[in-house]
Amino acid sequence: MAKNSTQYVCQGCGAIAPRWLGRCPSCGGWNTLVEETVGKKRSSTTSESRPGRPVSIGEVSEDAAARLPTGIAELDRVLGGGAVLGSVVLVGGDPGVGKSTLLLQALAGLSQRGARALYASGEESVAQVALRARRILGDAAHALGDRLQMVGASDVAEVEDAAKRARPSALVVDSVQVLRSSELESAAGTVSQLREVTARLVDLAKREQIALFLVGHVTKDGALAGPKVLEHLVDVVLAFEGERGNAFRALRASKNRYGSATEVGVFEMAQGGLAEVPNPSELFLAERPAHASGSVVAPVTPQEGGARAVLVEVQALVGSPGLGSGRRTATGIAATRLAMILAVLERKIGFTLTSTDVFANVAGGLSIDEPAIDLPLAIAVASAARDRPCARDLVAFGEIGLAGEVRGVARGSARLGEAASMGFKRAIVPASTAERISANERSGVELIPVRRVDEAIRIALED
Ligand code: TYD
Ligand code: MG
Repeated sequence: MAKNSTQYVCQGCGAIAPRWLGRCPSCGGWNTLVEETVGKKRSSTTSESRPGRPVSIGEVSEDAAARLPTGIAELDRVLGGGAVLGSVVLVGGDPGVGKSTLLLQALAGLSQRGARALYASGEESVAQVALRARRILGDAAHALGDRLQMVGASDVAEVEDAAKRARPSALVVDSVQVLRSSELESAAGTVSQLREVTARLVDLAKREQIALFLVGHVTKDGALAGPKVLEHLVDVVLAFEGERGNAFRALRASKNRYGSATEVGVFEMAQGGLAEVPNPSELFLAERPAHASGSVVAPVTPQEGGARAVLVEVQALVGSPGLGSGRRTATGIAATRLAMILAVLERKIGFTLTSTDVFANVAGGLSIDEPAIDLPLAIAVASAARDRPCARDLVAFGEIGLAGEVRGVARGSARLGEAASMGFKRAIVPASTAERISANERSGVELIPVRRVDEAIRIALED
């Protein structure tokens, strides 16, 4: 390959330089030049999306995409009903969370259903991957024959070659950061390499109609490494999350061209790999202490806008007043949300919490970032501060405003349905939400509508 087949393009202004420069000569931006290949045309469009004759809506068939179910129901649901041939799924997550395990299980599931699958590993040796596959599959490994194949790869060309030989319907590349393209001089994992490698793999998937899964590492602040460049190139972006030292794992979609991006799948890391958790509420509430203060059950929707409601236990612990300002620690809840709730409890209801340590936690390791957690969190803190347990048969949800008012939230009936299925009889809910839920959407749960947070606390703590 001739050396001048690459050029450096400023990501700020688009200026082109023949070699790398620390500062763009055109716009003056620092470190904005990124290596790119020149002159190669690559069509990542499939035949039906090729520009040309316009068609009317009625002519287009409902679902042109062929799907392969992996047999892992929690994964299939997040994907929108299985892996789509010719689609590219990016799976991000912290090291050790279980990305390789999940995708190996997915390939095993696909090949058990007759599909050909290829696992390209750049991170671990083929021997390591095979060992893991045997551990997960046990005796079922032999029955797969040559339908599940593995290859070690460090160059994207090796993956392309292996795919040509194995002709898989599903391909995992673990991980996209360790692969490089020899057409570029940059090291593996740089933005230019990531973009080039991903573009070539996307091209392969579209051309050969392969369901492609890319493993992507996550940076410390939780973003997919490779400044968002990958997210635009792929069809589906999934995040695999879980706390260290906790077996529970959540798989969420943040982008899905082939389904809803509001689904969440729940798994548990066990000896034989990841096990599905069809009833997460049961798992999250299993260790709830009896008659303890500072514990409130909340029906939450783990994925923003998602249809699925899950019950979690919100816990709070309040220390004794000390000197200076108290520490605030939040796990599974945003620190700003906890700070706001504490300020409302102090200024609007008369709790004194400024010099006390306050710990808040969503038990089980799920992270909740929806306003509906406000009310149960406030009740949990009040319960801990007063050392009075909350009524056992009760759940609570609702947003809290800065004046101490309780505001309505969406998905009321889904939350009540989940509460009822776990045996809860009463729910403290925002008055405006209660008005919108008809009697037959309540699943037999008695609604206690509230307008203010102090009202909710009185009822929950039976003051
Ligand atoms: P892994 O899939 O390698 O994570 P990632 O690819 O995201 O880095 O799995 C991580 C951890 O899971 C590893 O520390 C061991 C554990 N594990 C189990 O507990 N049980 C199992 O059956 C497997 C395969 C892994
Ligand atoms: Mg891995």
